[in-house]
Amino acid sequence: MSQLKTRITELLQIENPIIQGGMAWVAEHNLAAAVSAAGGLGIIGAANAPASWVRDEIKKARELTDKPIGVNVMLLSPYADEVAQVLAEEKVPVITTGAGNPGKYMEMWKAAGSKVIPVVASVALARMMERGGADAVIAEGTESGGHIGASTTMTLVPQVVDAVKVPVIAAGGIGDGRGMAAAFMLGAEAVQLGTRFVVATESICHPNYKERIIKAKDIDSAVTGRSHGHPIRQLRNQMTKEYIQKEQEGVPFEELELLAVGSLRNAVVDGDVKHGTVMAGQIAGLVKKEQPCKEIVEELMEEATALMQKN
Ligand SMILES: Cc1cc2nc3c(=O)[nH]c(=O)nc-3n(C[C@H](O)[C@H](O)[C@H](O)COP(=O)(O)O)c2cc1C
Repeated sequence: MSQLKTRITELLQIENPIIQGGMAWVAEHNLAAAVSAAGGLGIIGAANAPASWVRDEIKKARELTDKPIGVNVMLLSPYADEVAQVLAEEKVPVITTGAGNPGKYMEMWKAAGSKVIPVVASVALARMMERGGADAVIAEGTESGGHIGASTTMTLVPQVVDAVKVPVIAAGGIGDGRGMAAAFMLGAEAVQLGTRFVVATESICHPNYKERIIKAKDIDSAVTGRSHGHPIRQLRNQMTKEYIQKEQEGVPFEELELLAVGSLRNAVVDGDVKHGTVMAGQIAGLVKKEQPCKEIVEELMEEATALMQKN
């Protein structure tokens, strides 16, 4: 396979600069282990799960591969403190964080030897994370599936690259080697993909969910939650239609949340892609088939390196 060495491959001790984003309900041990075994970095998504689940998933992933595996911590989770503690105890080599500032855990994680990589959606946040001791940052554009910021990947990545000294990982809207090469041209030293890995063979996501992504067109995603400042990108369905209509009517956050509670689980686990939340990014239109993680990683590497060698 082609070689592409960067500060990120060195820092994380991985062969290929490709990271599978932490994804609530989707990114459990099977997916994470398969991506890591393929030479990328697989990440277990802790989301709102209790610490015991996270510890269990780390152990199961370690039974499948001896390559490094990361964990994504959602800092707003009610279990964030105990999950943070488990990650230190388990000496998880890479920790990515979302929804806030991981400052209060930094010392504990660093002492455990973990590399800490926050997800950022702005230059200001990237600078703040670097000052706080982050080893790298993931600049995630609004094209992404899941919780999103305002800037596009195309505009955010080069501005973050110019603003910080730590290496930058690009996320949002990257689905193949062309997207990966483009991210590198913008100054990124690795890429993080979510949507394409949702449909990987090793992903435990319900077949209905995978099929929705595979059949999606370029304009099939919608954003809910803009009215209350917590936007989420997902594929259009009955649920997004009702949610967005209620937002336009000015329905308060608490009532809107009744539509959303448990809805990602309903889609991922039970396959209810009509009323559930089918989180996926704008790149879904480019994702055309289910493939093993190894094949996805190899394709990305071959295509991206060939394109970059042309320059
Ligand atoms: C189903 C799904 C769930 C996600 N859950 C999380 C999460 O729990 N924490 C997080 O930091 N990012 C989450 N993300 C974002 C991904 O980690 C990744 O950064 C993003 O999907 C990249 O953009 P892409 O979908 O265009 O590849 C999620 C994305 C998807 C598609």
